[in-house]
Amino acid sequence: MNLTDEQQQILCGAKGEFLATCMRWLVEWGDAMGAQRLVPVANTHALVTVPGNLVYGAGDKPLERSLDLLHAVCQHQVCGHCTTHITFAHEEQYAEIDMPSEQVEAQQQVMQAASEAGFLMTHTCAPYLVGNVPLKGEVCAWTESSAVVYANSILGARTTRHGTESALAASILGVVPEFGVLLDENRLATLQIDVTTPLRTPTDWGALGYFTGRAAGLEVPVLHGTPQPTQEDAKQLCAALASGGGVTLCHIAAVTPEAPTLEQALGGRHPQRQLTFGDQERRAAYAELRTHTDDCIDTVILGCPHASLHEVAEVARHLKGKRLAPGVTMWVCLAYATRANAERLGFARTIIDAGGYLFCDTCPTNSMRLEATRMVTPSFKQAHYARGMIGVEVIVDNLRGCLAAAVSGRWHDGQ
Ligand code: F3S
Repeated sequence: MNLTDEQQQILCGAKGEFLATCMRWLVEWGDAMGAQRLVPVANTHALVTVPGNLVYGAGDKPLERSLDLLHAVCQHQVCGHCTTHITFAHEEQYAEIDMPSEQVEAQQQVMQAASEAGFLMTHTCAPYLVGNVPLKGEVCAWTESSAVVYANSILGARTTRHGTESALAASILGVVPEFGVLLDENRLATLQIDVTTPLRTPTDWGALGYFTGRAAGLEVPVLHGTPQPTQEDAKQLCAALASGGGVTLCHIAAVTPEAPTLEQALGGRHPQRQLTFGDQERRAAYAELRTHTDDCIDTVILGCPHASLHEVAEVARHLKGKRLAPGVTMWVCLAYATRANAERLGFARTIIDAGGYLFCDTCPTNSMRLEATRMVTPSFKQAHYARGMIGVEVIVDNLRGCLAAAVSGRWHDGQ
């Protein structure tokens, strides 16, 4: 990779050992990916997952490693518009959940360190819902796969899929290696998905994303024939694209800012592959994440990625004057900023009165020991990971189906 004199000096330790290490991470990553240079970045989103690691195990001393890293970062100023998502429950919620004391302590230490480093702690996997909304063409360094796909595909910003170390390094060095979707030529679609079945709910968009992610792997797909998505549709689509496969960018013809037409998404070329997402494929996607052996459910997880205010309002409307079935626990995961709005608008009270939890700034799968046997969720991503990470039986269904199950204690297939 071609480095400027200043970058070369930092790499050689002119500004201290830690910045040299950060530069080495970016340079080695760039070299491995074929980058020619480092380019400026002023919008980063770093994910710190220490507590989740504590719960589920992630090798040797994950807490110490993360804290050392953050304390080193905090000796430097973050540059530009840098937010962070630390996956832990908001401190007001410690009493509500089964959270080990070492996890509480870890969360507080990590939050303090990140704050001192200068990060704006939005504490959400959906930073675009609470103020970090990059513009078309803006180079970013974001972690969290669903947010990365959203930034590239819906906002037209440009970010490769970052890990914690690279996003933190980019936050203090202000550069990223230029490869992948940062370059025009790698943003053209090669796989065309013709959508021939109606997409009626955000969960149907999740089914499309799961199918497309599976088919695409690391390719750039373009979706053709879809209706205009809502923000909630787009959120489910992007999360499922990144959990069904390793997608970084997916064009939606006439929606993605740089793809006003199918032809422009493909760069005027024929697609290398063309598949159809029809009724059969939609049903198959749902069937893959319905692993239940019985219709009785005990857990409902909403807000993956974190719920928008619209989703919270819809949940409240459905639950007004109702109660969750005995033995059913319902989590609505969301950013603190969204919960504050929901409280002010009365939605939070309605959901709590019905027996639900508004769970900010993380999600049960990521940061607590979830005791669950059978879960319903409208999120393909949540179902995909909960199945593997906590070994729970999962049922993915649209929001109405999930809420009906929450109230009756039984899930019925309304499709
Ligand atoms: Fe967010 Fe948890 Fe889903 S961090 S994307 S709600 S798995």
